[in-house]
Amino acid sequence: MLLDRVKPLDAILATAERKSLKRTLGWFQLTLMGIGCVIGTGIFVLTAVGAQKAGPGLMIAFAIAGAVCIVAALCYAEIAAMIPVAGSAYTYSYATIGEFFAWTVGWALIMEYAIAASAVSVGWSGYFSGTVLGGLGIDLPTWLSAGPLAFGGVEGGLINLPALVIALLVTFLLVIGTSESAKVNAVLVAIKVVALTAFVALTLTSSQFDAEKFNPFLPAGIFGGWGTGVGAVGAAATMFFAYVGFDAVSTAAEETKNPQRNVPIGLVGSLLFCTVFYILVAAGAIGAIGGQPIMDAMGLPLEAGSPELARQCAMPQYADALVCSNEPLAHVLKMLGFTGFGNAIGLAAFLALPSVILVLIFGQTRIFFVMSRDGLLPERLSRVHPKFQTPHVVTIITGLAVAVAAAFFPVGQLADISNAGTLYAFMMVAIAVMVLRVKDPSRRRHFKVPGVWIIAPLTIIGCVLLFFNLPSAAMLFLPGWGVLGLLVYFGYSRRQSHLGRGIVEVVDDVAGEELQVPIHPPAE
Ligand code: ALA
Repeated sequence: MLLDRVKPLDAILATAERKSLKRTLGWFQLTLMGIGCVIGTGIFVLTAVGAQKAGPGLMIAFAIAGAVCIVAALCYAEIAAMIPVAGSAYTYSYATIGEFFAWTVGWALIMEYAIAASAVSVGWSGYFSGTVLGGLGIDLPTWLSAGPLAFGGVEGGLINLPALVIALLVTFLLVIGTSESAKVNAVLVAIKVVALTAFVALTLTSSQFDAEKFNPFLPAGIFGGWGTGVGAVGAAATMFFAYVGFDAVSTAAEETKNPQRNVPIGLVGSLLFCTVFYILVAAGAIGAIGGQPIMDAMGLPLEAGSPELARQCAMPQYADALVCSNEPLAHVLKMLGFTGFGNAIGLAAFLALPSVILVLIFGQTRIFFVMSRDGLLPERLSRVHPKFQTPHVVTIITGLAVAVAAAFFPVGQLADISNAGTLYAFMMVAIAVMVLRVKDPSRRRHFKVPGVWIIAPLTIIGCVLLFFNLPSAAMLFLPGWGVLGLLVYFGYSRRQSHLGRGIVEVVDDVAGEELQVPIHPPAE
């Protein structure tokens, strides 16, 4: 049978008990951790893409995407406090809806994290070339600072060298065992929050701020049309990227004091904070310099990243448009005459975005690691380096893939593709929470989603809604990647699965010892 392989929850929970990490984290540290993973390319770079899709409706887009993430976060909080082990949505699915779906979730997450890391690398590159190199008077030629598909391929991009280099550099740091300490994270969070607060204060109080710039508020409507990815909901599907990463908090449940209270506060708190912040940033940017999309002859916004948009952006009348900028927040401040602050915000992005890349590649390798510990991916790939104690093989493979994607693809498309995988994983977590409530109602839950039969279905509806408002290329990428995944699953993983062979590993720590629990193999 296809759906009979469900990993016993007790075996998974034995992991948590064996590891028994000290419970030291409180809600404040968790919230800081969430904000550290979340604020990145989404707000610093994709603001321009979002404005091209929805104009001032970008503010609504942030609210919609934030709401979907908050309901998903509640589902994560229940299941993470209950199954506080590595592997996130993949592990939760394995324990509830079984190996086949867990495989699809793990496979989607591998793609999601890697492509998200590429997107953040490209975002970083815009600020590096614009603010840092520009500030030093160095003008990196377009063929070295943009991939061939950036600007729709019309401006002579060949390779995004800075994006390639930062992805490889972060990979190197991960191979030698760098992890972000709580202190470094706190400093980077402070840099990002101060930079964005200054942005909001300067733009909202600027003499150029004009309410008239919000008119029309929804130039592309709420729904822009099937597969177009425009309108407020289309922009929400892209800006969803700005919230990705909060699930990292859920993996810290095991190290949290009073997880029942602190995990949901950390998850929902960081998301609420970011939602409010993002809406204010969008309001400031648009109110200060305007943010109407550039339209085609039919009156619809031109596709972000398309050749036609690039041609229009090259015209003198759009030279200063928000929707044409690669470093929109710095650009807005410079347009208002705050050149020093513009450079400072560029510098903040330059300093803080690499840590987001690090968290994402780290997350990818840990999912990969847990899947190979389960026998679903070749164990050779997750070999641990004798000196650095890191899964160096998978980290290097991932890093190369991230670097290549970052070198050649535009940020908006990468973010959309990554979102498709994340939306699928969030939906499966909501399903897992409901399945577990029915299958195992009496198991102790440190946190229970209030009104689960409303919140979990709302999460599913939200994820489906956003997924079907992605541009069609991003929507189609997920099933394509899924077909490849099915070939690997039926060609390799199903036979090699440890669970299928009657063994369950219950250690998820990279350097930890293995404990094997024999179980009765399920009937084939
Ligand atoms: N949310 C993260 C970012 O916006 C991935 O960069």
